[in-house]
Amino acid sequence: MNALKQLVYVSEVEKDMFTSDTVTQILKVARSNNPEKGISGMLVCNFDHFLQVLEGPSDEVRHLFDKIAHDKRHKNAKVIGEKDIDEPQFDKWAMGFANTNKGIWPYADQSWATLSKQQAMEVLSFAASQSKAI
Ligand SMILES: Cc1cc2nc3c(=O)[nH]c(=O)nc-3n(C[C@H](O)[C@H](O)[C@H](O)COP(=O)(O)O)c2cc1C
Repeated sequence: MNALKQLVYVSEVEKDMFTSDTVTQILKVARSNNPEKGISGMLVCNFDHFLQVLEGPSDEVRHLFDKIAHDKRHKNAKVIGEKDIDEPQFDKWAMGFANTNKGIWPYADQSWATLSKQQAMEVLSFAASQSKAI
């Protein structure tokens, strides 16, 4: 049996590579690739950092994270939490997305590189509350 895994990571936006289409392109590929692998999740970007949760079959999640971690559009991807789960929490989204609007976001005044797992889940849950299913 292939257990389900939830993996949460934070990474630094590679500013030299970041254009107005970067997020749109990432989401287009994610939403095309993820469903056939049984992967769902949520991505948040505050223009300094990406925070992403990936959920799905354990080996698919690990494989995708290894691929994402080598993507030149960000760097220093650091796993904040990785655990087996019974039920996915973000399965309304092949890859949901929310842009942060500094001020109303949890931990808006703190570097996301320093978020604890619990704090990261608060940010991602807040993003989920703002995001339409897609
Ligand atoms: C922050 C970030 C999040 C990403 N999330 C996903 C994702 O959820 N699914 C995905 O397939 N690719 C994602 N990518 C893109 C992958 O790094 C990679 O470019 C893509 O999967 C390549 O797809 P291909 O093998 O079909 O060419 C992400 C990239 C970045 C920078």
